[in-house]
This record gives sequence, structure tokens and C-alpha cells, in this order.
Amino acid sequence: MNAPTTRPRQALIDPDDQGYNRTANPSLNHLIEQRLSRRSLLRGGMASAGGALLGSLSLAACGGGSDGAGDSPAPLQLGFNPVAKSLADAVIVPAGYSASVLFRLGDPMAAGVPEYRNDGTDEPGSYDRRAGDHHDGMTWFGLGSGDRWEPRAAQRGLLVQNHEAITPVFLHPNGQTIRAGARSVPGEVLREFYLHGVSIIETSKGSNGQWSYQRDSRLNRRVHTLTPMELSGPAKGSAQLVTAYDPQGGKVRGTLNNCANGSTPWGTYLTCEENWAGYFRLASTQGHDARTLSNYKRYGVSGEGRELWATTQGAANAAEQDSYDRWNAQVRAANAAQDYRYGPNTYGWVVEIDPFNPNSTPKKRTALGRFGHEGAALGPVQAGQPLVWYMGDDARNEYVYKFVSDALWDSADLGKGLAAGDKYLDKGKLYVARFNEDGSGEWLHLSLANPAIRGYAGYAFADEADVYINARHAADAVGATKMDRPEWTSINPLNGDVYLTLTNNNASNRALDKTNAANPRSYNDPKNGKDQKGNPNGHVLRFADAGRNPAATRLTWDVYLFGARASAPAQVNLSGLTADNDFSSPDGLWFSQAAPGLLWLETDDGAYTDVTNCMLLAAVPGQVGDGAAKTIVNQDGDKTREQKTFIGARPGEKNTQLKRFLVGPKGCEITGIAESGDGRALFVNIQHPGEDTAEADIGNPARYQSHWPDGGNARPRSATLVITRNDGGLIGL
Ligand code: FEO
Ligand code: CA
Ligand code: CA
Repeated sequence: MNAPTTRPRQALIDPDDQGYNRTANPSLNHLIEQRLSRRSLLRGGMASAGGALLGSLSLAACGGGSDGAGDSPAPLQLGFNPVAKSLADAVIVPAGYSASVLFRLGDPMAAGVPEYRNDGTDEPGSYDRRAGDHHDGMTWFGLGSGDRWEPRAAQRGLLVQNHEAITPVFLHPNGQTIRAGARSVPGEVLREFYLHGVSIIETSKGSNGQWSYQRDSRLNRRVHTLTPMELSGPAKGSAQLVTAYDPQGGKVRGTLNNCANGSTPWGTYLTCEENWAGYFRLASTQGHDARTLSNYKRYGVSGEGRELWATTQGAANAAEQDSYDRWNAQVRAANAAQDYRYGPNTYGWVVEIDPFNPNSTPKKRTALGRFGHEGAALGPVQAGQPLVWYMGDDARNEYVYKFVSDALWDSADLGKGLAAGDKYLDKGKLYVARFNEDGSGEWLHLSLANPAIRGYAGYAFADEADVYINARHAADAVGATKMDRPEWTSINPLNGDVYLTLTNNNASNRALDKTNAANPRSYNDPKNGKDQKGNPNGHVLRFADAGRNPAATRLTWDVYLFGARASAPAQVNLSGLTADNDFSSPDGLWFSQAAPGLLWLETDDGAYTDVTNCMLLAAVPGQVGDGAAKTIVNQDGDKTREQKTFIGARPGEKNTQLKRFLVGPKGCEITGIAESGDGRALFVNIQHPGEDTAEADIGNPARYQSHWPDGGNARPRSATLVITRNDGGLIGL
């Protein structure tokens, strides 16, 4: 018998950091129909996440429109002193603010579940009622009377959040037990199945002003990799979605690698499946047809699967064996209804969950396409207009998409849960973006009706459903712009501008001769004497759909902000960042609804971590076009190359602002952000503190990279923070 071993993990390689786009596509790579008046902005300022939506509806209903000239509001003022960069194993917030820990990995979510021991010995079967790992995107839904959605609620609400992935070293007694390349302890695997997905907890503010969650709330729920779900929309029933779990191609178990999130105007939660491809086993391609292999290659399905789930030995019964086999995408039976050769096609979707109905079955909305979904940001909501969601596909050289509903928004659908989702999210148009060199852009429709897709030489689409399943191939076919890893999108409620984080790109994909106007930098950012070439610090793009109409197929764009060290040369630090606001690798990005015009920016960085841990910044941006055209001189060694682009006003110019608000503990990323209905509590997630701890060091707490949040010798835990202002005011202002 082989001795148990732990698998060496390449801890410094970001599992988010993937790229499978090998096409030759050019590496270029009021919404509110009327401008919001100062009066309506003030009214919006009283609203919350959903409240602003309701606010804009009521504005439309009452004909609220422009006051005409001179209606631009006084810009917001960030009212805190920026925090310094930090390498401490601690959360740092500005003077006058407090951050408390609300909800940690393993915390109980139901009566009778014991406290988390955090030593790897907690009973595996209890994890479907515990907080998951790797807290990520989240939404806070205010609770009103009858536990109905009350967007403006300030005291009590459901916090719905993603648990993207796991840090295995801290989950079991001694990391993952692996014998002869196979997982050999089923209980460890069951823990991991449950630790992915989504959690829903009831939160409330006590009379002492402290926030907590109710462990035994009837509304608490875990959604994980074993939760039954339905496939919905145009790909439902496709032959490519047939599995042994459902030969009809309409049902699937679970959701996975839930990164960022989105919301709907009717009060449901959208969770987005990002790096799902890595979980599937495809060690042998034997028996697969060429089209399926082209699909799996384009999405990065290959090898043993990152957690080796398909290899698990020792199942007690056939059902348990099936829970491992489902991660095996190899051809293992006579037909697709007897194995999971198409398992990877049942992931990569946006999933809708009704948090107000704990018994509801989540739905995978296939009309929004299958890719590495980062998030799904709802565009401006207008009565009688289509609804729009903007979506990034996070891998190197992937694309930006939007979905435009066929159905026109009717506020009578508010509160109708998944039935409203059936109406708005199952039928519509899926577009991908092309960003032109002249600052314009197009939204390109992904449909077999498009001759570029119907006649695409790179992949023969079987039918319309196949366009959604193989959305990346379809986007290749129409010549979308390859981007520097599209992460979150968010919409400025003041003007409808869409902001998009592009976290970074590597040396080969963004070499000197591979830049374009929208991804314009190629440079070196040395870290500890080692080169980091390409666009290691990332940037934030923004765009305005033509006529401020989110359903438009034309747009204009500029670069809002470039990440950089403050000490970097001017041709790298193009936004003029200073010690108070320099950052690298933007990821989370979200506009407050309680304070319209206030933007939060979160980092998931490995490039600037010689100087600082990851951070949260607050910003007051301007608008698309408030800067100027610019020719950058990129440099690689002795070689230089010019690249034209468009850069927005620098922080500090034209009333714009940017300040560092928070720095997290060691080895974490800052991600996920939500606010109470009055904007006086900000929820922020600390994901994977201490993730660079070597598995060999699990027995030696002194060598853990982090002990946050519990301190002492504790294993680190992902956790949700609640941030409040000591005087009870709006956060950030
Ligand atoms: Fe899961 Fe793209 O960050
Ligand atoms: Ca992310
Ligand atoms: Ca990321």
C-alpha cells in the first residue's frame, strides 16, 4: 500500500489566472433615457440597492426628467483619511470606522450544529449547514414585514454570498489525503463538495449597533455542489446537456466556483460559475467526438481535475460513487445518458436563486451563455424597457458580454421570484463586445442568424443551443476583443456608465506587439528583483452604450484607471496614483446604491504584494470621455512601441477622487461587497487569508502565512466583515 501523501500545491499560482483563447481574433482588442436631475439624485440617495431600482421606476412613472442646464449635482466627497499600504496580518480601516467579523468559514448555520473546531476534524456531514470557504460576491436583501423584500430595510436582511473555492491545506487534519494519485478519504471530499456554492444567512443589527447573524433562522440555506437545480432557457434539453443524472438534459446537481454575483429587479440572486472547467477530469479523450474536444479545449477542461474528486476511492454505495463519477468527463459508457461525458456543459452558467424561498430549486439561465462567468451586473432599470446584464469572462484574452431581455420590465413582477426569472432571463439576445481603436465599440449578436457564426470555420455549431453552450467559440467567430481578464462590471447609477475591471495579463498575451487601444499597456513591474511583464497591474475600462440606452449595439469607451505602483514610471503609472491610492490587480468593483456615485474597488493581487496586502478603495469617478486621447510608449528592455488609447480624468482632476479605505490580512484577496438598505453597514469579504501556506507546514502553526481572524495559532479562515462608521454615518463619505 502506498503511504498517504499530500499533493504539492502550487500555492503561488492563481487558479483564476487561466487562458484558453487561441484564436487569431484581433487582439484589439441615460440609460436612463433622461439625465437624472439633481432632485432625483437626492431622492436616489435615500434608496438602497433595490431601492434605487425602485427609485428609478418611480421616477419614470412620475415623468421625472431633466431639470435642464445646470443640473449636475455637487460631487460626493470621500470623508475619511486614506489608510497606508500594509503587510500586517490584520484588517485596517480608517480612523472613525470599525470592522467586525460576522461570518467565518465553518460557522454554524442551523440549530444543533457545533462550533467549528477549525482543526480539520469537524464532522463532514455537518458542512451543508456551515459557512462555505472562499467568501466571494454577495448581495444584501433587506427584510420587511412577512419576510418580504424591503430594499430600504436598514436593520435586518438576508446576506447571500458565494463560496468560490477552497484552501485545502486548512480543511482536513493534514491537507488532502491522496494515495497513488487518488483521493482516499471520502469524508474529506464530502466536506469540499459542501464548502463550495452559496450561503444565505439572516443578519440583523442589534440594539447595541452590532451586526450578527441568526444561526437558526428558517431562511438560512446552503446551496452547494449537491443541490438539485434546473437548466432553463435556450440550451435546456440539448443533446449536449444529457447526463446520467438527467437523460433529458434539464436537470443538474449543484453549482461551483461561484465568483461574483448579480441581482434582479424582482428580488432574486444571481451567482456566476467561473473556473468550473478545472474541476472536471479529462485525462483521456478517447471516444469523444471532435466537436466536444474542441469545446473542452476552448474552455480548459483537461487533466485529472484540480481537487481530484473524480478519483475518489472507497464509496459506500452506488449513489456515493455517482457523486464522484459526475466529475469525470471521459467517455465511460455506451451513451451520454449513462455517464458524465457532458458534465462540463452543465457548468459555466449564471444561476438564479430565490433567497426568500428556501425550498425553491435554483435555475441555471442558459440564455446568458456558458463561459467563465465572473459576475452579472444589472443595468439601469426602466419601466417598459428591456433589462440588461453585463458580464465578464475571466480568463486571459477572454471577452465581455451583455444579455438583453426580450421581455420589457414591468414592476408588477417584483417579488415573483423564479417565475419572473423565467420571463426575463430565458429569452433575449446575447452580445459580445468589440472595442475599437478609435474609442468606439460594437455589441455583436451571438446567434446562428449571424453569418459569421453560421459559417464559422473554427467550430461547426450544431444548433442555436450550441451557440449558448459554446459561447466562447461564437464570440471568436464574430471577432470580439481579447481583454486583460474581464472581472466585475458595475453601473454608475448617476449616468449609466458601465465599469469593468481587467485584472491583469501576462507577458506572452500582452507582449509589446500585442496591445490594443482598450488593453494598451505592456511593461515590466519588477517584484523582488523578478520581472513581471505584460499588464501585471491591470486597469479599469468603462463604456457608455449609445444614447445611454443599455440595449444599444454601439458604445464609446475609455480607460478609467490604471493599476500601478506609485513609484512606477509615468508611462506605467498613467493615472498618477500616489501613496494614498496606488493598487494592483483590480477585481471586485461595485457602485453603492445608498450613495449614488460612490464606487468601491477591490483587489486580488499577486504583483504588488511585496509592498502591500490586497485592499479596498473608494472612488468618486467622473464619466466616459472626461479625459483625453493619449499615446503610450510601452517598453520591453531596449525596445519601445507606441500605443494610442483614451484615458479618463486622473484621480483628483475634475472633482474625481480615489482613496484607499481598507487593507486586508496576509495572503487574502478582498472581494464581495454589499450594503445595508441605508448604506450605514458595509459588508466586505476577506477571501483565503494565508493561502500561500505550504501543505507541509500544516503541523507547524508558526509557519502559517496568516492566523486571521481568530489569531494565536489558529488556522486562517475566509470571513465576512461588517464595517460601520463610529458616528453611524454613511460609509466612505
Ligand atoms: Fe474569481 Fe475572476 O475572480
Ligand atoms: Ca473575482
Ligand atoms: Ca480574480
